[in-house]
Amino acid sequence: MFNTWEWIRICGFLAYFYFTVSVIFGLLRKTPSIKKQKNLLFHLHLNAGWMGLLALVVHVLLLLIDQYQPYQVKEILLPFSAQYQPLLSAFGTISIYVFLVVIFTSDVLIGVMNRKVWKSIHFLVLPAWALSFLHGVFIGTDTSNHLIQIFYIVTGSIIIIAGSIRVYGEYTKKSSQTVRTRRSRG
Ligand code: HEM
Repeated sequence: MFNTWEWIRICGFLAYFYFTVSVIFGLLRKTPSIKKQKNLLFHLHLNAGWMGLLALVVHVLLLLIDQYQPYQVKEILLPFSAQYQPLLSAFGTISIYVFLVVIFTSDVLIGVMNRKVWKSIHFLVLPAWALSFLHGVFIGTDTSNHLIQIFYIVTGSIIIIAGSIRVYGEYTKKSSQTVRTRRSRG
């Protein structure tokens, strides 16, 4: 079967995959043409986030017991303190913190938080996703594999497309609101 180092890589991919799926469904949730599926998209968004977190916990726990490239707890928790690839390891650690804050504020604190503050925190997933993308692409042994390169290109492109659809949707919503306000004033 697989050894620890291979499981670390499999769980890294699973975490990246689930976080990517979660971000995509989160971005597309408000798209008018699929608004009817809003609830389904919301559940996929939420559950993919939790699955990503689960895979991530296994990814980092295995790093602690691995013999090939062992990490200490401090090297995982403290950005830039790892001996192996300090910058790329820090990208992973920082994205873990952001994903944790986003999941916690969304599932536990959402009822008591100011909506604007919550939304600003929630959108931090985009830079965190970008950091996890860079982490996976540049630290991973498997990036030399063509299928894996295609996987990164496809997932990265879908994020850019979903992000653009969302930005365009917010922009058209704001401009039609401005027109309506102007008309009602006069
Ligand atoms: C959101 C957080 C993270 C995600 C999504 C993630 C994802 C990934 C992915 C996709 C790979 C590539 C696997 C491969 O190409 O074989 C990988 C590899 C790796 N990750 Fe992470 N990771 C995260 C956090 C961390 C943290 C915090 C550390 C340690 C500080 C870490 C250490 C490693 C190491 C050492 C590898 C190299 C495995 C290899 O050589 O292939 N990761 N990770």
